[in-house]
Amino acid sequence: MKIIVIAGARPNFMKVGPIMEALRLHRSDRADLSIVLVHTGQHYDQDMSGSFFTDLHIPEPDINLGVGSGSHADQTARIMVAFERVCLDHRPDWVIVVGDVNSTMACAITAKKLGVKVAHVEAGLRSCDMTMPEEINRLCTDVIADLLFTTDVISTENLRREGIQNTKIHFVGNTMIDSLLRFVNDARSTPLPEGLSDRRFAILTLHRPSNVDSPSKLAGILDAVLDISAVVPIVFPAHPRTLGRLKEFGLLASLEAHRNIRVTEPLSYLPFLGLVSRSQLVLTDSGGIQEETTVLGIPCLTLRSNTERPITCEVGTNVLVGSDPQAIRHAAFTALNEGPRNSRIPEKWDGRAAERIVAILLNSSRDDIFDVVRMPNQPSHISGHSDTVEILELQDTHASPPLQS
Ligand code: UD1
Repeated sequence: MKIIVIAGARPNFMKVGPIMEALRLHRSDRADLSIVLVHTGQHYDQDMSGSFFTDLHIPEPDINLGVGSGSHADQTARIMVAFERVCLDHRPDWVIVVGDVNSTMACAITAKKLGVKVAHVEAGLRSCDMTMPEEINRLCTDVIADLLFTTDVISTENLRREGIQNTKIHFVGNTMIDSLLRFVNDARSTPLPEGLSDRRFAILTLHRPSNVDSPSKLAGILDAVLDISAVVPIVFPAHPRTLGRLKEFGLLASLEAHRNIRVTEPLSYLPFLGLVSRSQLVLTDSGGIQEETTVLGIPCLTLRSNTERPITCEVGTNVLVGSDPQAIRHAAFTALNEGPRNSRIPEKWDGRAAERIVAILLNSSRDDIFDVVRMPNQPSHISGHSDTVEILELQDTHASPPLQS
C-alpha cells in the first residue's frame, strides 16, 4: 500500500507529525507499506515551516512542491498542477490530508479526480461562516473524502447531518493534541523570554484576514490589547501577514513603543508551546490554539464571532469574544481576575489519535469503500460500498481534566 501524506502550512505540521510516526511504526510489520511525505511549500520560511519539522521530529519531506504564496486561486491551482504530477508518478493508494488550509483542499481534489482515495484528518469542523476560506476548504474536502477522521462528537454529527455515509466517518481524537502531549514537557523546559515569569504574562496571536486586513478593526483590537498590557505583559508573535499589515497601517511603531508588549517573529513549535503552557491568558484568532489551551487548562479568548471548534467552548477553556475592543477588555479583565474556569479535556484527546487513524486506514482494503478509479493507463472499475469494513478500534479513554502544570 502506498500512502502520500500532505503537509502544507504551519497548522498542518503538528497534525502530520504523529501520523508519520504511527505509519513508521507499522512499516516493520507491513513490507508492502510505502510512505511519501509531500510538502506543498504553502508555508516556506524557517519560522513558518522548517523549524516545525525539527521540533516535531518530522522526517524531511520526500518531495517539496515549492508553490509559495499567492492569491487563493493562484496558490490552489499551482498546488493542484504540481501534485497531479506527483500522483501520476507515484500512483498512491491513499492520500492523507489534514486540517483546512488551501493545500488540504487542493491535494484532496487532485487525488480524487485521479481516482486515488482520500483520507481527511480533522474532518467535520464547521464554523458555518462562508467568508472564511478555511470553511470552503473543509466543505470541499469532506464531501469527496473516502475516510473522514473527526476530533469530536460535534464534528461527527455535522458530517452525519450533511449526509456523509456513516461507514466513512471515524471519531478518533485529535492529532494536534497527540503532538502536544508528546512534546509539552520538552516545551516547558525552553527558557521564558527575559523578564517574564510563570503565569504572569499573556500571549496574543492574530492572523485572520477578517481581523488584520482592516485598519480600523486591527487598530481597535490593538487598542484593547494596550489596555490589557497595563495589567499583564503581552507577548505577540506576529504572523508575516500581520506584521505586513501593522507596517502598512502605521501601527507597528506605536505597538513596539510599549514596554509591556513584545512583538516577536513567529515562534517555532516548542518555544511557542512552552510559552502558552506557562501563560496566564491567551488572546487569539487561531483555530488550533483554542484546542491546545483547552488541554493545558489555560483561559483562551478567541477574537472571532464564531468557531469551528465549539467543543472548546462547551467543555474547555475557550470563550468567543469577537473583535469589539470593549468586549475584549471586559473578557480579559474577567479572565485575569477569575483565573481558569472548570474545564475538561474532550473525549479521545488522549495522544492516540494517529494510532487509531493508521490502524483504520491500514485495515481498509482497496475495495472497501470506493467509487471510481480513473488513473490513466489503469483499467477503470467501480466497486460497491461495503457496510462491513472491519475496523480495528482501539480502547477508548474517558474525557479527563486539563493537564496540570
Ligand atoms: C494559512 C491558512 C490558515 C492558517 C494559517 C496559519 C489557508 C487558506 N489559510 O493562512 O488557515 O491558519 O496558514 O499560518 O490556507 N508568508 C510568509 N512566509 C511563509 C508563508 C506565508 O511570509 O512561510 C506570508 C506571505 O506574505 C503570504 C502570507 O504570509 O502571502 C499569507 O500566507 P498564506 O499561506 O497565503 O496564508 P496564511 O494567512 O498563512
